[in-house]
Amino acid sequence: MSADGRLRLAVLISGQGSNMAAIAQACARHTINAEIVQVIADRAATGIAVAQGLGLNVQLLAAASFPDRDHFESALVDALDASGAELVVLAGFMRILSVPFVHRYAGRLLNIHPSLLPKYKGLHTHRRVLQAGDSEHGASVHFVSAQLDGGALLCQSTVPVLANDTEQSLSARVQAQEHRIYPMAIGLIAAGRLKLAGGTIELDGGVLARPLVMQHDETSAQNPSRV
Ligand code: GRF
Repeated sequence: MSADGRLRLAVLISGQGSNMAAIAQACARHTINAEIVQVIADRAATGIAVAQGLGLNVQLLAAASFPDRDHFESALVDALDASGAELVVLAGFMRILSVPFVHRYAGRLLNIHPSLLPKYKGLHTHRRVLQAGDSEHGASVHFVSAQLDGGALLCQSTVPVLANDTEQSLSARVQAQEHRIYPMAIGLIAAGRLKLAGGTIELDGGVLARPLVMQHDETSAQNPSRV
């Protein structure tokens, strides 16, 4: 914890950083009891300038400049440990992390994925949803496990798929939900209400049997509905 009791976050990015910005905004507004102590990009991402603009500590750790994943992850661990981060937040971080790395941060490593997991793990989720003709799509926040996009699900938000949707329009609708549920999920952890215990998520002392669900027209990040 920071001296003022806020949960210390490190945010890992590879892209535009819009989720990072949404989390930073929730921290700045004290909607959640957390602060971003470090942003780390694994490439020359446009999100680096966004982080700088928000006054965040940002570090470029270019994965391509390391001889292999082990060396990159070793530097990443050093940077995370130096930051004193308590929760590591993957926000569009386009890199598969090794099993030892995932185990090191077990219960302290979150990801957001643009689908209603366990549906559509992996890439190009919006395209695949459109090709399948699904009527519903969404985003999921989960703890990271050794299985790709397979860790314990914390919360989800659904959006309708519209008849004239393109990948871009559908992606934008899903991203708007990501920007709401990711801060909400982090806020629950920061408030001490939610944690991962032995592969099971606990909320307010009870087992969370199914992920929290936020409907697309809800506005409160404080009071998510339960399934
Ligand atoms: C998000 O859509 C997230 O679900 C996916 O990558 C995208 C990152 O966007 N994992 P941004 O960099 O946060 O704008």
